[in-house]
Amino acid sequence: MLKGKYAVMLSRNARGSGAVQTAKDMAARLGVAYLDRPHNQVLEEFMAAQALAAVIVLEKDGPRIHSEYGTFAYHPGMAEIRVQQLLRGAPAPIVHASDLRRGARPLERTLRLASDAAVAACVAGPTGRVVGLEASLLLHFAVQYGLAHYECKTPLLTAALRRVEAVHAVAGEYLAACAADSFDVVYFDPMFRHPVQGSKAMEALRPLALEEPLDRTTVELALKVAPRVVIKERSEYLLREYGCQEYVGGKYSRIKFGIIRR
Ligand SMILES: C[S@@+](CC[C@H](N)C(=O)[O-])C[C@H]1O[C@@H](n2cnc3c(N)ncnc32)[C@H](O)[C@@H]1O
Repeated sequence: MLKGKYAVMLSRNARGSGAVQTAKDMAARLGVAYLDRPHNQVLEEFMAAQALAAVIVLEKDGPRIHSEYGTFAYHPGMAEIRVQQLLRGAPAPIVHASDLRRGARPLERTLRLASDAAVAACVAGPTGRVVGLEASLLLHFAVQYGLAHYECKTPLLTAALRRVEAVHAVAGEYLAACAADSFDVVYFDPMFRHPVQGSKAMEALRPLALEEPLDRTTVELALKVAPRVVIKERSEYLLREYGCQEYVGGKYSRIKFGIIRR
């Protein structure tokens, strides 16, 4: 997770009535400074001079996070494609593994872009409740903004994004405070130990995330909170180590979903 000082600033092309105040409010919510964008310095030089690890620049279409690893603005990742596939009736291993249905109450421990949570919210519908935890302050900030404002090509997905509740929390602490059976399923999508080469946007994203391996204690806590736990991994061996007894996986994909029932 990116360590160091962050700040919020307003992009030159986003200036307009109320924009400075919106940026200042964002800075206050994040508990970081609001800084005026210098006219005569490129952002990278300004960040170096101020010793900033990240700057959240409020653009016309929302916040964009800048760090030495690149820039990132919220998008729902693969959710659009996955929801289109769902609507065509294609098999969805995550839905099957998590036993998602209308009115379901899944907890996603690893929210990031909320792609998986958005698919869950589509299936669960308005009577369900999808909660997602994100430990990274910057990612939580970006995803919370995106869930409230991002317009997808598929209206069903836009509506689903609006229903996902994004919570800034470290999973262990959150799960420990939950009442028994607060959710139907707890879903874990931990960071892969060996990252796959991704796009530039994904490379800018990874350093913002918390890279903590999933531990057995968290899985045990999850089994108190829900009768079913689902873990996404590339290795069946790792899934077995976590205690998974059943596996669901795409025929043409290395991704597997391990299931543990209480
Ligand atoms: C592989 S990504 C999950 C991707 C997500 N399923 C999606 O659809 O976009 C893992 C995310 O979990 C977060 N994370 C890792 N450990 C966590 C923890 N203990 N508590 C909460 N969030 C955690 C990371 O910051 C990262 O954003």
